[in-house]
Amino acid sequence: MSTHTRAPLVDCWLDAAMKADNKWGTIFGTLLPRLQRQIASVLALPEGKDNTIAFASNTQELFMRILSGIGDGTCSEPLVILTTDSEFHSFTRQACRLEEDKLVTRIIVPSAPFETFVDRFIAAIEANADALHMVFFSQAFFNSGHTLSQAELERVVASVPRDEVFVVVDAYHGFCAVQTDLSALHTRVFYMAGGYKYAMSGEGCCFLVVPDGYAPRPRNTGWFASFDALADAKTDRVQYSDNGSRFLGSTMDNSALYRMSEVLGWMETRGISVEKVHARVLAMQQLFLDEIEALETRSGGTCILPPLLNADPSHRGRFLTFVVENAAALCEAFAARELPGVLTDCREDKWRIGFALYHDKEDVLECARRFWCVVRACAPRRE
Ligand SMILES: Cc1ncc(COP(=O)(O)O)c(C=O)c1O
Repeated sequence: MSTHTRAPLVDCWLDAAMKADNKWGTIFGTLLPRLQRQIASVLALPEGKDNTIAFASNTQELFMRILSGIGDGTCSEPLVILTTDSEFHSFTRQACRLEEDKLVTRIIVPSAPFETFVDRFIAAIEANADALHMVFFSQAFFNSGHTLSQAELERVVASVPRDEVFVVVDAYHGFCAVQTDLSALHTRVFYMAGGYKYAMSGEGCCFLVVPDGYAPRPRNTGWFASFDALADAKTDRVQYSDNGSRFLGSTMDNSALYRMSEVLGWMETRGISVEKVHARVLAMQQLFLDEIEALETRSGGTCILPPLLNADPSHRGRFLTFVVENAAALCEAFAARELPGVLTDCREDKWRIGFALYHDKEDVLECARRFWCVVRACAPRRE
C-alpha cells in the first residue's frame, strides 16, 4: 500500500466527523466522479463512459451481482459458465457452491499450457456456443502470472458468438499492472478489478466496468443502485439507474474510494503511467533472473534452480512464479532471512516473487542473492 493512502484516510474521517450526512454530497458529487474519471483514464474508456463504473468492497460481491443479472427470471436450467481452472477463490468457491445446488454448471478449460490457452479457450466457446450464459476468465492468472495480451483479450471477446452471453474479465492482476485498453471492449465485457494490488490503494476498493444494456436489473441489488431513479414516480417495479450505478450495493466504508483516488491522482500528476511502471518491473524481473543464473554459474552449478512458470515476458504480469515442490518451506526460509520490505508467497507448488515500483536495483540484487541461498539450502541438489 502506498504511503499516499494515509492522508486520504484522515480526509475521509474528517468528512465523516465534520459533515455528518452531508458527506454524501462530497462522496457522490466529487469523489466518486473523480475516481471514475481516473479509472476510465487508466483503461482508456471513451469520453462520457466514466459513469459505467460501479464500486463495491470486493469482487465476490460484484460477481454475485453480475450473475443475478442473467436472464429474465424464467431461467430454470443451471447457468452454464465457461471458465478456467486458474480463477481466484472468490469466483471458484462461489461457483462450486452454486454447482452443488445445480444452479450453475462450469465448463473448465485448463490455463496450461499457456501457449495454446487462447486457442483452446476459443475452441471451447465455439463448441458450447448454444449452451453458454457466461464466459469468465482472468486477464492475468493469479496462480502463474501468465497474462493475456490486449490482442488476445480482444480475440477471446470477439469469439463469443451470441450477444446475450455475459463476458466477465477478472482483472485483479491486470489493472494498473499491464496496459489495458477498453475503448473497444467496454461495450461487451464486464471488467472487474480492485485497487488492493497494483494501484497500491489498500483493500476495499473494487470496481466493475458495466457494458451498456447488459443486466439492466440485477436481482442482487442495494439501494444505491437507484439514486438517479429515486425521484421517479413510484411504480410496482424496482427502479434502477441506467448507468453503471445499477450495480452499486448499499452503504460501504468509503475510505477505500478516498485512498484509491489519491494514489491514482498521485500517479497521474507525476506522469507515472502503467506502461512505464510495467517496463521498469520487467527490467527488474530480468535483472533478478540474470543474477540467480550468474550466482548459479559462479558456484559451479551446485543447485537446481526451480523452473520459471511464466517465462515469456510478453505475457507476464508483475510477478515471477517458480515451480517447486516444497514452495511453502522455501517461502518460509526466505522470510527467515528478513529482507526488509520483501515478502514472497506461495500457492501449492508455486513460489511467487512480486516486483513493484518502489523496488530498485540494489533491492533486486539482494533479493536474488537470498533467493539463491534459500534454493541452495532447501531445493534438490545436483548429483
Ligand atoms: C485474480 C483475483 N481476483 C480477485 C481477487 C480478490 O477477490 P475478493 O475481492 O473477492 O476478495 C484476488 C485477490 O488476490 C485475485 O487474485
